[in-house]
Amino acid sequence: MKLNIFANPNLLHEAAAQTIVRLLRQKPDAVLGLATGGTPVGIYEALTAAVRRREVSFARVASFNLDEYVGLPPDHPASYRYYMDQHLFRHIDIPPERTHIPDGCAADLERECERYDRLLQAAGRIDLMLLGLGHNGHIGFNEPGRALHSKTHVAILHPQTREANARFFRTPEEVPTRAITMGLGSIFSARTILLVVKGNDKADIVHRALTGPITTECPASLLQLHPRLVVMLDEGAAARIKCQTTQNAFHEPVDSTNGLW
Ligand code: F6R
Repeated sequence: MKLNIFANPNLLHEAAAQTIVRLLRQKPDAVLGLATGGTPVGIYEALTAAVRRREVSFARVASFNLDEYVGLPPDHPASYRYYMDQHLFRHIDIPPERTHIPDGCAADLERECERYDRLLQAAGRIDLMLLGLGHNGHIGFNEPGRALHSKTHVAILHPQTREANARFFRTPEEVPTRAITMGLGSIFSARTILLVVKGNDKADIVHRALTGPITTECPASLLQLHPRLVVMLDEGAAARIKCQTTQNAFHEPVDSTNGLW
C-alpha cells in the first residue's frame, strides 16, 4: 500500500488528477474505472483543467463507472450518468461511446449486469480504478454484509448509504433503494486502485478499512490485499491512522506514486 496524506483537499485533488495524467501519458488508451459522489468532484475539475492546458488527452481512453441507481434515467440530475457528463465527460475529449455506465433503467436488470461484465471483459483489465469510500465501508455500492459479489449485480442500498446520498436529492424518500454496481472481482482485477478519502467524518472508517480485520462487514478492508493500492487522504480522513503510520503499521509508511506505471 502506498499512503499519501495531504494538508488540504486541493492538494489531494491535484495529486489524484496528476496520477491519472501520468498514467495517460504513458498509456493513452488506458482503461479507467471511475467513481461519483462528493469525493471525485475536485479531481474531475483538476483533470478538466489539465485537458484544457493540453497536458493530457482522453481521446483513446475507455471509462467504466462503478455504479448507477436503479430507476434513474440518464437525464435525471441525481443519476450517475448525468453527474459524469456534468463533472467530467462534457469538458474533456473522451468520445461518448467510450464512456460506460450501467443502465439503471434497463428492463431486465440481470441482463444489464451481464452486459456490463461482458463490456468490462472485452475492454481488458482496468488500468486504474478510482474509488471513494462510504461511511459504512462500502466501495462502489458493495455494501457490508455476510457475503460479497464478485460480478456486477443489483445491490440493495444500506439505509446509511441512502441517508448519506440524500443530499443529492430533493427529499430523502427520492433516493433509490437499489443500484447496479461493479462487483469486488472487477474492482480487484484493476492493475492499480486509487482510493481517495476526505473529511474527518471518514476518519473512523478509514482506520477500520486500512488497519482493521479483513471482513465482508467492511468491504473496503479487502483492499488491504490488493498488490497496488494507492491511498490518498486529507488530514481529516487520516486523523486516526496518523499515529499508526509513524509506528510503521503500513508496508510502506508514506510514499509517492512515482514508479507506479
Ligand atoms: C460512487 C460510489 C460510492 C462513493 C462513496 C463515497 O460511485 O461508488 O462508493 O464513492 O459512497 O461517496 P462520497 O464521495 O459522496 O462521500
